[in-house]
Amino acid sequence: MKAMVYERYGPPDVLHVQEVAKPTPKDKEVLIRTYATTVTAGDCRVRSLRMPVGFGLIARLVLGVSKPRQPMLGSELAGEIASVGRDVRQFKVGDQVFAFTGARLGCYAEYTCMLEDGAVALKPANLTFDEAAAMSSGGTTALAFFRKAKLQSGEKVLINGASGGVGTAAVQLAKHFGADVTGVCSTANVELVRSLGAHHVIDYTTEDFTEQGATYDVIVDTAGTAPFSRSKRALKERGRLLVVLGGLPDLLHVPWVAITSHKKVIAGPAAWRAEDVRFLAELAEAGAFKPVIDRRYPFEQIAEAHRYVDTGRKKGNVIITLAP
Ligand SMILES: NC(=O)c1ccc[n+]([C@@H]2O[C@H](COP(=O)([O-])OP(=O)(O)OC[C@H]3O[C@@H](n4cnc5c(N)ncnc54)[C@H](OP(=O)(O)O)[C@@H]3O)[C@@H](O)[C@H]2O)c1
Repeated sequence: MKAMVYERYGPPDVLHVQEVAKPTPKDKEVLIRTYATTVTAGDCRVRSLRMPVGFGLIARLVLGVSKPRQPMLGSELAGEIASVGRDVRQFKVGDQVFAFTGARLGCYAEYTCMLEDGAVALKPANLTFDEAAAMSSGGTTALAFFRKAKLQSGEKVLINGASGGVGTAAVQLAKHFGADVTGVCSTANVELVRSLGAHHVIDYTTEDFTEQGATYDVIVDTAGTAPFSRSKRALKERGRLLVVLGGLPDLLHVPWVAITSHKKVIAGPAAWRAEDVRFLAELAEAGAFKPVIDRRYPFEQIAEAHRYVDTGRKKGNVIITLAP
């Protein structure tokens, strides 16, 4: 089968097409033929090994010291079940599904195996394959952080970086959970963020949310520009800062803030669960969640898509299409 691989860390040009062995599903696995996948900010980080402050060495140890251990990037996909292992009960050949491989990656290929009780779910009928492919990365990240923060209906939530992959999912999910939602983005994305259901939008090019006197129960930082030192004055007495993008210093703040105040910093990798994808599918079917698509690129042009995502300016999600 065709796969997009990389054998060394570096710029988008390290990605190239290669023929690799088509995987065979084990007894409890399904084999998915990929029709669409995505390029996330995380894919670009792993490809380039450009990590938040303090995580460079840890990342190298996890991902491969001199070269990547997993040559195929891509953490989410949508497609069709091509075959099933002999103990599979929940899916059959031809089912249209979407899936999240998370840190295991491996979605930049024509076929991928998933455990049937892993993060795989039937594609909502009202979504295209492109939309379904973009359900998981931003959606599970936002869900996992909101779960840790114990987000309550009626709370005031501010999302810094509301127009990105995680931000566009977070705005919709916070709204669904009954929060009063404020999105922070640049001028060009104000209308997009409003259209996703944000009750208030702050244009960070003209206003600084930390200087306005307003306070929030939950602040989500997906842009890395609202660390605790800056956000604390905009957090309520028992407010929680969700550091989706942060370095080692942000992690070190976690115990310190807990000891010295009633505020809380929640940082680190998102603790997503396999059932999160099924929850997102239910929300999408009910019309409460729809991934935002910015651009689409054919499979052969993944490097071009990486170049775009590297700019840090994507709106929602960038799709890679492999449909026959
Ligand atoms: N902790 C975890 O488990 C976890 C999970 C997933 C992702 N992440 C990380 O979270 C980060 C965000 O991911 P993503 O997929 O949302 O990235 P993304 O889609 O690339 O985010 C791009 C968005 O960031 C916005 N932005 C840039 N500078 C900003 C600023 N100063 N203030 C507010 N917004 C700004 C941009 O909007 P404008 O063009 O309007 O500026 C753009 O829409 C990435 O670094 C990713 O690696 C962490």
